[in-house]
Amino acid sequence: MNILILGGGGREHALAWAIRQNPKCDRLFVAPGNAGMESVARLVDLDILSGPDVIAFCEENAIDLAVIGPEAPLAAGVADDLRAAGFLVFGPSKAAAMLEASKSFTKAVCDACGAPTAAWARFDAAGPARDYIRDKGAPIVVKADGLAAGKGVTVAMTEAEALAAVDEAFGGAFGAAGAEVVIEEFMEGEEASFFVLCDGTDCLPIGTAQDHKRVGEGDTGPNTGGMGAYSPAPVLTQAIQDDVMARIVRPTVAEMARRGTPFQGVLYAGLMIRDGQARLVEYNVRFGDPECQVLMMRLGAQALDLILACAEGRLAETAVTWADDHALTVVLAAKGYPGAYEKGTEIGGLDALPRDSSQMVFHAGTALKDGALVATGGRVLAATGRGATLAEAHARAYALADAIDWPGGFYRRDIGWRAL
Ligand code: AMP
Ligand code: GLY
Repeated sequence: MNILILGGGGREHALAWAIRQNPKCDRLFVAPGNAGMESVARLVDLDILSGPDVIAFCEENAIDLAVIGPEAPLAAGVADDLRAAGFLVFGPSKAAAMLEASKSFTKAVCDACGAPTAAWARFDAAGPARDYIRDKGAPIVVKADGLAAGKGVTVAMTEAEALAAVDEAFGGAFGAAGAEVVIEEFMEGEEASFFVLCDGTDCLPIGTAQDHKRVGEGDTGPNTGGMGAYSPAPVLTQAIQDDVMARIVRPTVAEMARRGTPFQGVLYAGLMIRDGQARLVEYNVRFGDPECQVLMMRLGAQALDLILACAEGRLAETAVTWADDHALTVVLAAKGYPGAYEKGTEIGGLDALPRDSSQMVFHAGTALKDGALVATGGRVLAATGRGATLAEAHARAYALADAIDWPGGFYRRDIGWRAL
């Protein structure tokens, strides 16, 4: 079959790498992709937020399956457009993507289906939001309601910080995304990510992971898109996973179906675990990046079979073949990230590195310029290892990262510290 992947980050490179390994995959395209994917797919210059443009490409190239990586095309309704045109799609409708695109929507769904999450309130003006914060006190969490590229959340340890976050959101710092604000109870505990394929009716867990959101070692400094991840996450024991399926994921999927907006795609539940109990922090309606890199490393070629079963509504009859393995990925970012950073710095040493089913450098933001590989983004590479133990995966990932010659970049040395 011919497959089109939308997106151009490390997540999409990992998806393309896994999908390419499956003999069912004939031609593979990625739009826009990046320099790292050229060995596994054909890169396409396409406006991935435009349904008509994506449909035209699918028609011209006899695409059998479209896999949508990032949230932006989902929130823009590209999956709906493709389905209406008769294409098989992996990714939720615009209405179901609200589970990521609106925090108050998700909170209302949780309340309707009884899924445990932080107590919350929603505001569309600063005055009442400020009163609420003064009443509840700190710590407290302030969130822009809409998509704010991961920057809309303030975990405020003091009342002053929370009040400043409210002023920032209503002052227009997040554009329309901040026109409404959700204020939440602060949840203590250990965070982990749980990935579940949903076909509208049935659900299939496909793995757990733990991200490292802070830029600095020891989880210090500003938040980022994620500086490294590993899978599985030992904190998500089988008992907790079963409980999350029963009390959070299945009720959510049933509630979405009941509303006439069934969820189809990967539901990424961000969970807070404390004393063996999980509560929902948030949903995302796509794979995490860099969590996808470790999931794909572990699933390998079967990722396509699972994605296909999800898109075709066959999850009830589908199972994951689990290997008793571990994967870990280390993100290499441009110096300065998540603040201002230089673009176009040259990266060397990649060609000499091994690449196989237990070690792979996924590209997140690279391009070829005059024959040289250069960095084009904040997060640029994801050095990923797989092994029988987490320590082995860790050693492989760091051996790759250490061998990359990129003076313009940096990476955390402590990815995996919680589990190691
Ligand atoms: P989100 O964009 O909703 O994932 O929030 C970003 C990060 O803020 C999460 O990954 C958590 O680390 C933190 N966070 C969000 N909501 C809460 C909460 N209610 N209590 C504690 N931490 C939170
Ligand atoms: N790594 C976190 C995310 O993709 O949202």
